[in-house]
Amino acid sequence: MAVTITMGIQKGGSGKSTTTGILAHLLSKDFKVLAIDMDSQGNLTELLTQIPSNEFVGRSILEAMQKNTTSNFIFEVNDNLDILPANNFLATFPRWIYTGQTYLGESQPYKGNPSLILDKLLDEVRDHYDFIVVDTAPSLSEQTTNALCASEYVVVMYECSNWCYSAIPNFMDSVDAANQIGNRNTSVLGILRTMNDVRRSDAKAFNELIAEDYPELVFNTIITRKAQTGRLSVHGFEDNKELSQALIQYQEFYKELIERVKNR
Ligand SMILES: Nc1ncnc2c1ncn2[C@@H]1O[C@H](COP(=O)(O)OP(=O)(O)O)[C@@H](O)[C@H]1O
Ligand SMILES: [Mg+2]
Repeated sequence: MAVTITMGIQKGGSGKSTTTGILAHLLSKDFKVLAIDMDSQGNLTELLTQIPSNEFVGRSILEAMQKNTTSNFIFEVNDNLDILPANNFLATFPRWIYTGQTYLGESQPYKGNPSLILDKLLDEVRDHYDFIVVDTAPSLSEQTTNALCASEYVVVMYECSNWCYSAIPNFMDSVDAANQIGNRNTSVLGILRTMNDVRRSDAKAFNELIAEDYPELVFNTIITRKAQTGRLSVHGFEDNKELSQALIQYQEFYKELIERVKNR
């Protein structure tokens, strides 16, 4: 039975897609992994497949949720890693839920709980994977609440800044709500401090502030801004000469994460 982990925060540029991609890559060395892109930007899709997300129109997570089946929508990245991809049409997900209108103009109103569509879909594949990792949009939209409700664990992405700091309380409330509404005992696995600029004292201050607020939850690893990590979006994980440098600071985070999952 797969363990499902969502990366989230309703703030863009916090390293969600990068971290989800790296986590999927590292997990796939030892486990069978399904990555799910729940952001219409399709960044995780492009990071892991190196294919433009527009090429997945008609065969993405949106249609999988609308048809309540993963068959024909899972794309194989390699032997151990699959992805349910996304593209811009995922932005029409709420419209479909509440009006029945798809982007093709079809209309079949959705009748179940609007927050549990992804959770229900994943029942079909949970036995096929060890881990499912989910990337989310920078908003507390239906896409995000579905991801939270489908997950046992959430990694809160904390980009060391004031606007990310102010996003945290509402995000924590959303995880609590998912715990109440959903069936997976959703809880925060940890808070990952990312995009840290070591030259900025305000970044250091926001790092310390979150550790004071949530001493039990922050991971010890702090991810700094590093060119090779940023360039993963260009080179991906195959034939990338600087891959080990891009991943090096994530190795410690990965160890911490596996340890926490084991001990829960
Ligand atoms: N540790 C890092 N160092 C440098 N650049 C990074 C790092 N992590 C992510 N990036 C880059 O910063 C931008 C935002 O990261 P991304 O993963 O897309 O965040 P989010 O998904 O939260 O919006 C992207 O261009 C990405 O390539
Ligand atoms: Mg993203």
